[in-house]
Amino acid sequence: MSYQTDISGVKFSNCIFNASGPLCESLKELEIIGKSKSAAITTKSCTLEERGGNPRPRYKDIQFGSINSMGLPNLGYKKYLDFVPRLKEFDKPVVISVSGLSLEDNLAMIESFNNSDADLIELNLSCPNIVGKPQIGYDFEQMDEVLSKVMAICKKPLGVKLPPYFDFVHFEQVANILNKHKVKFVSCINSVGNTLFIDPDNEEVVIKPKGGFGGLGGKYVKPIALANVRKFYELLDKDINIIGVGGISSGKDVFEFILAGASAVQLATIFMQEKESCFDRIEKEFNEYMSSKGYSSINEVKGKLKEFNKMDKIRIDPHVHFRDADQNYKETIAHGFSVANEAGVSYVFDMPNLLKPILREEDVITRLKLVPEDKKCNYFLYIGATSDEDQLKEAIRLVRDRREVIGMKMYAGRSTGNLAIINEEEQRKVYRILSENGYKGVIVVHCEKESYMKNIFDPQNPHTHALSRPKIAEIESLKDQIKFAKEYNFKGTLHVAHISCAESIEMVNENKKEMNITCGITPHHVIWSDEKLKGPHGNLYKMNPPLRDEEEVKKLQELLKQGKVDWIETDHAPHTVGEKLHSGFPSGYPTLHIYKEFIEKFLPSLGISEEQIDKLTFDNIINAFGLRL
Ligand code: DHB
Repeated sequence: MSYQTDISGVKFSNCIFNASGPLCESLKELEIIGKSKSAAITTKSCTLEERGGNPRPRYKDIQFGSINSMGLPNLGYKKYLDFVPRLKEFDKPVVISVSGLSLEDNLAMIESFNNSDADLIELNLSCPNIVGKPQIGYDFEQMDEVLSKVMAICKKPLGVKLPPYFDFVHFEQVANILNKHKVKFVSCINSVGNTLFIDPDNEEVVIKPKGGFGGLGGKYVKPIALANVRKFYELLDKDINIIGVGGISSGKDVFEFILAGASAVQLATIFMQEKESCFDRIEKEFNEYMSSKGYSSINEVKGKLKEFNKMDKIRIDPHVHFRDADQNYKETIAHGFSVANEAGVSYVFDMPNLLKPILREEDVITRLKLVPEDKKCNYFLYIGATSDEDQLKEAIRLVRDRREVIGMKMYAGRSTGNLAIINEEEQRKVYRILSENGYKGVIVVHCEKESYMKNIFDPQNPHTHALSRPKIAEIESLKDQIKFAKEYNFKGTLHVAHISCAESIEMVNENKKEMNITCGITPHHVIWSDEKLKGPHGNLYKMNPPLRDEEEVKKLQELLKQGKVDWIETDHAPHTVGEKLHSGFPSGYPTLHIYKEFIEKFLPSLGISEEQIDKLTFDNIINAFGLRL
């Protein structure tokens, strides 16, 4: 599929073609463009007479783009006039760029092209590379005069190649002139004129003309070009089309220009660097990106750039189980992010209790490779804590040195995976080693004491799950953790994950004076009771710790309202429905799916203010983890 476009009534089979400038001077070069996927053929800016241009070297590829001072080398307009019939054989629009050294020259050339089969004329008012000839685009009076004369005689759709502008007043003044003369299109931007690139090793400039000053192109200029496209889209009459040019090197770049308001784009530096294959590559990338977003035409996107929505809150879910790897049939990290983003969550902290748990640096590296490129900054993970001293020391180092390793996780009781430290002496040892090694980060603890759990779960009667993990298991485990932390004067933060009993919450709060201790609660423990386990498909609601009775849930809601819980964490833990209901009966619920409604409707219905919700979903979390976002 190709995304067609239209410039002043001229049809383009796709929206990407060459800019006047590189590789479009000779007939041979223009024929190459004709044969390529470029949607049109644009000629090098012509003058009345042939020009050899400035002395070489006059073009240089530099770190993020290019610098040039070509000096308008071209064959003289008559040659391009002669080329038009041949170029039209390629069955695509021919755009003639005209850059006369005087108004008279421009008028003479345009008169001639009026009688050709050229489709569009692009009047170049922005060449920065001719000594003694300032850019007309920066002289508004002259621009006004030139356009009044030129528009009076031009019979073809005529557009203007503009230099970049940087001031809102200038944008308005230029737009008024362009609207007044009813130009048909604008191409913006030309290279950023008279910039200087220096080679420090050789202590010299990199091009010969004009003491090294030249027009800057490539990635450096994309944000400038986007700003110019956007501003002119806002200010120009709607029937004036905009062609975006400046630093485009990928399909996504093209998309950005269309969003900003362009009807088509031109390629310059990337064409010089990659040659004509860039048209094919970039068009394919653009087509794929457009169809992946479900767009079937340029018009659905053109100019539709959104304002920054200040109402969008940044929310963090500091407790998810994104599966991936050998459990990607349950969920991938990419999918987890799409669910999180729909729920309004931008950042997640992922748990380490995978089939192959995250315990060592190599596990962290392997895991991070699964994170989509555009989510790398939004993904954090915990390192599992074992009672092995070496492993703990490595974990301490990773939390300290690796930005993505957000903290440690200890399972003080069996849950999903194989990471539990059920022996109290071994749990004590963890606190000792962390304290001896100066660990000041967060250790998230799953508190359920093994000796209080009962092996009575019967899948035919899901409520037995709640009975198998009674409140006392959480409360007693929490007592142990507090005792051990105090015993070794633990200076980090003990975080009690997915707290499920009012008594545990009170205990956390009572201890806040003496130690760094926090607790988090899941949406499911606050909205649902163990009645869910008694209903149809009760096993769907099996999680650790289990849902509590209705009376307890009411108390949890009240304590949450009183500000006694530090944050909301989902414990999002997807399984397949088949597993949940028919085989294995694993614990875990995909809670991110109910997060949005919980935050936006349920918490306000409890009387929790917006300010408090922000603390529960962001401020308290970044403060505890010392995170700067
Ligand atoms: C040249 C450079 C430009 O930026 C332009 O618009 C026209 C000509 C040149 O140096 O050849």
